[in-house]
Amino acid sequence: MTQDISPHSQPDPRLTVLNERRSTPVLALQTPAPDPEALAQIIAAATRVPDHGRLTPWRILEIPSERRESFAAAVQNCHRASDPDVTDAALEKDAQRFGNSPMLLVVISCIHENHKVPEFEQTLSGACVCFALLQAAQALGFAGQWLTGWAAYDAGIARLLGLAENECVLGFMHFGTASQAVPERARPALSDIYDRWKA
Ligand SMILES: Cc1cc2nc3c(=O)[nH]c(=O)nc-3n(C[C@H](O)[C@H](O)[C@H](O)COP(=O)(O)O)c2cc1C
Repeated sequence: MTQDISPHSQPDPRLTVLNERRSTPVLALQTPAPDPEALAQIIAAATRVPDHGRLTPWRILEIPSERRESFAAAVQNCHRASDPDVTDAALEKDAQRFGNSPMLLVVISCIHENHKVPEFEQTLSGACVCFALLQAAQALGFAGQWLTGWAAYDAGIARLLGLAENECVLGFMHFGTASQAVPERARPALSDIYDRWKA
């Protein structure tokens, strides 16, 4: 019996959703975004994540499209406050990122402090939500990208989002429809990331 797993076999069609998953850069996202029904479906599916202790240590905040312009302006103000030397180019990038993508969800980690479940594990559960949102959206024909950048770690942005002391941003999740086909990027070779313990 061979113990090898073959890197040459054809992708199993049952894994298509995973095998075809890729990010679409936020600037290549256009409308339509998921409508409320699709969004509810996506969130319901994407929050069936492993969760040690059933703590639900995460939540999702939508920045509604009609408030995105004012949100983007507030983000720029935070950027100016935290970095007086911020460049116009960086501020323009903020406006593009936070003002223009068709749908913006913020996945927030809500840590149960001093709990027997380590904080890292709670964070991992939230990261699973981020990834599952990408998969679920793509399964419904949408495209998306998981971004963090400076804003995920900025105290002013945390206040803007209304985060509690035990909360932080895990991802700014942008969704919409791909305006162009995104070229596949090289993925790690199986032989580089998989081994069998031999000791
Ligand atoms: C936690 C996290 C944060 C990320 N933040 C950024 C970011 O701020 N800017 C960026 O260009 N890509 C960021 N990425 C990478 C993209 O989401 C994406 O994975 C990358 O463009 C590769 O595309 P792929 O998902 O098709 O492999 C981040 C990924 C993760 C997991």
